[in-house]
Amino acid sequence: MTDSNESLMLRREQAVARGVGQIHPLFIERAENATIWDVQGRQYIDFAGGIAVLNTGHCHPKVIDAVKRQLELYTHTCFQVVAYEPYVALCEKINALVPGDFAKKTLLVTTGAEALENAVKIARAATGRAGVIAFAGGYHGRTMMTLAMTGKVMPYASGMGLMPGGVFRARFPDALHGVSEDDAIDSIEQIFKNDAEPRDIAALVVEPVQGEGGFRVASAPFMQRLRALCDLHGIVLIADEVQTGAGRTGSFFAMQQMGVTADLTTFAKSVAGGFPLAGVCGRAELMDAIAPGGLGGTYAGNPVACAAALAVLEVFEEENLLARARTLGDMLTHRLQQLAAGDKRIAEVRGLGAMVACELMTGDGHPDPELASSLVIKAREKGLILLSCGQYANVIRLLVPLTATDVEVEAGMDIIEACLAELG
Ligand SMILES: Cc1ncc(COP(=O)(O)O)c(C=O)c1O
Repeated sequence: MTDSNESLMLRREQAVARGVGQIHPLFIERAENATIWDVQGRQYIDFAGGIAVLNTGHCHPKVIDAVKRQLELYTHTCFQVVAYEPYVALCEKINALVPGDFAKKTLLVTTGAEALENAVKIARAATGRAGVIAFAGGYHGRTMMTLAMTGKVMPYASGMGLMPGGVFRARFPDALHGVSEDDAIDSIEQIFKNDAEPRDIAALVVEPVQGEGGFRVASAPFMQRLRALCDLHGIVLIADEVQTGAGRTGSFFAMQQMGVTADLTTFAKSVAGGFPLAGVCGRAELMDAIAPGGLGGTYAGNPVACAAALAVLEVFEEENLLARARTLGDMLTHRLQQLAAGDKRIAEVRGLGAMVACELMTGDGHPDPELASSLVIKAREKGLILLSCGQYANVIRLLVPLTATDVEVEAGMDIIEACLAELG
């Protein structure tokens, strides 16, 4: 007899640490493009993409072929022991894709958090400074340093005590919640006044669109003001493109739409279409600030993940996925705006490219996490996998594979519409 979701959940509860959360009490049997089948044979449209990892869909045939070919050659040497060409080829391609008209170099690692950790290490080595400025609502990972930078205590750092020092929190612009761009810039000036001199700050780290923080978009003028502040004070600007990268926003990196370039860019998630790969790309002179041996890791830039990433980049070209991200973004935004026009609970529809979200509020203008959570549950019952996010957990974010068909996208949006009507 095959396992049910319920029986597997019971085994999971006994065997897996409680701190590993789970949004949907489902176990997957298989998946293809934008569809998941659970162990009971139920089918779901996937609007979560494993949290922004599947811009090229589940098991893209081209990615799977590249992985299979790599598996038959070699799966691991450790790049620092015996190197392999796919690592170098991928760094060459990333150097060309990351915005910035300057010489670049790339480091490959395994997870987004590891990329952020290394970006900070590089900025510290290059500047001889230790401080970091990060934003409220920002999310950079679950390791100790990235938890210090992540601007949301519950649940990520709860119960773990104080995180490493030297991280200062600025405000992120959010007109809906009364934070203007001037307020956000002023909060950085306040850090310089109250907490640390600019000459002690190594890096300022920003997501061009906050992911976990609720798909809050940094405007191009705001990013330009951050760039100017960093230039004035010799601070390294780190763009965390772990969630925004790999075409999600309609350009391969969101910073291409911001009119300025970062000094260091972190990437992960959809870059390798479901295989664990991440990295830091940036100005060659910064990237080379650390001596041989200071960067790397046993599995960092694993050859199978590199092969997957190289295939993902080809799929982007062949299937014109950047243009698709823009069209998809228009479709999703249009549907959400139509819903918002007749539903006051949708306080805002926002995003960049196909990184689209809506923020839910109560009638008296307070964040409504209960509605968001009910919507996620009801949508699952109707065959749609959704994710919430946001500082108040009241934002529904759409991370549809860019390879999903229009029919699948409309079907998913129909489910959201039906759920909102039932929850009315
Ligand atoms: C913007 C951003 N940075 C960093 C991370 C951490 O990535 P990982 O979970 O691979 O460590 C995430 C993960 O959601 C993210 O969205």
